[in-house]
Amino acid sequence: MPLTLDRSELARTGNFIAGQWRDAASSARYPVSDPATGKSFTSVPDSGPEDAQAAADAAHAAFESWRERTARERAQLLKRWHAAIVANTEDLARLMSREQGKPLAEARGEVAYGASYVEWFAEEAVRSYGDMIPALMPGKRMMAVKEPVGVVAAITPWNFPLAMIARKIAPALAAGCTVVAKPAEDTPLTALALARLAEEAGLPPGVLNVVTASRDHTPATVSSWLADVRVRKITFTGSTPVGKHLARESADTLKKLSLELGGNAPFIVFDDADVDAAVDGLMAAKFRNGGQTCVCPNRVYVHAGVYDAFARKLVARVAALRVGPATRDDSQIGPMINARAVAKIERHVQDAVAHGATVLTGGRRLQGEGLDGPHYYAPTVLGEANREMALFREETFGPVVPLFRFESDTDVVRDANDTPFGLAAYFYSRDVRRIWRVAAKLESGVIGINEGALASEAAPFGGVKESGYGREGSRYGLDDYQHIKYLCQGGLN
Ligand code: SIN
Repeated sequence: MPLTLDRSELARTGNFIAGQWRDAASSARYPVSDPATGKSFTSVPDSGPEDAQAAADAAHAAFESWRERTARERAQLLKRWHAAIVANTEDLARLMSREQGKPLAEARGEVAYGASYVEWFAEEAVRSYGDMIPALMPGKRMMAVKEPVGVVAAITPWNFPLAMIARKIAPALAAGCTVVAKPAEDTPLTALALARLAEEAGLPPGVLNVVTASRDHTPATVSSWLADVRVRKITFTGSTPVGKHLARESADTLKKLSLELGGNAPFIVFDDADVDAAVDGLMAAKFRNGGQTCVCPNRVYVHAGVYDAFARKLVARVAALRVGPATRDDSQIGPMINARAVAKIERHVQDAVAHGATVLTGGRRLQGEGLDGPHYYAPTVLGEANREMALFREETFGPVVPLFRFESDTDVVRDANDTPFGLAAYFYSRDVRRIWRVAAKLESGVIGINEGALASEAAPFGGVKESGYGREGSRYGLDDYQHIKYLCQGGLN
């Protein structure tokens, strides 16, 4: 199916470097595929270190003049970019659905979500205050001022092709940094369209640069930024192994890092919970983006006293989800991103069944039945999950809910924390003492209490333990792109 946009110029298929649209230096390209069918529908540059260096040259050259603009000027450009994103919602949603498989309605929501970070940081740019520190002796003035760190490399994931890159670029630009970005190999088109809209909004050449690369060429492309002393910061969303690799490889130049890495979120339903609200919260948290979200509940713990009622209500809701092509307006779950993703889901479900789980609904690939392609998986609920299953330890990243039965608060909190990860956690209870106790004990950067929808531009998002460090969004979000300079002036008496 051809890609049809109202404004065809948003379907960019070149790198954006120094304000120009270019092929890779080698002229190599790689195909971009529709996740439903696995068939390619366009191609983009398969960049290498030479292209990454050209982007870093451009970002470095643009840095001094960008940082010297007033915060208000930078804010105005971000506001224009925000307006352009919102005005082109429909085309951006179509591009995103096509390359990522997210249902169209959800893709529209992601445009609004991603744009909200651009607006937020336009507003934050003009409120980035320093401090006047009470001097320790007469005749001195002591101050802390905030400065942009310099060139930022943003490496972004495929699951939220617009929101994740927007929430890295916007604070970086607001702080006065310039950016080189490498979107995920599966989803380059949304990032390139965003760059086009930034260009239309009047962003000066070199302030934002985007290069694309295939899975094979990504390591060499990114490595050239890791070794480059001019790149002062890496911001990455993706897997924990890759995050650790980036931390190791950038150690020689001691870059500042923000790493938003994998999760293994627990979702706990206590016996005093409002079961209907808990089912609503789980549906919102788990099935967003077909379960391909770092903050998705991966292990659902339900107290034995409410287990049967919760399972029955949940299964009815999950079985009613409409799976369909991303481009159809009434689809609720689209195809998974690629064959590897479906294979992992299948492996987790088979392993769980082999270890004693019962399939309460789903539990299989969907093919035929009006679904064109091998990457659809039925929304699934598994009963009687246990710690021996792979899905206890690993993030499934798909539409699978395993239900673990528990009896005591102590055991469930211990099990919930028994993972190297600590991105999101959720729990439902109506007991205010339990709420404060459990919220304090859960080892997680983000906690939903009687709430399944957590992320917003106003909230600090990020993990603890091996889910990474740094915070995106909120009034803390600029800090990751700034350093503090201490000024001490003497001789004033
Ligand atoms: C993610 O990291 O998967 C996205 C998190 C979010 O914005 O909710």
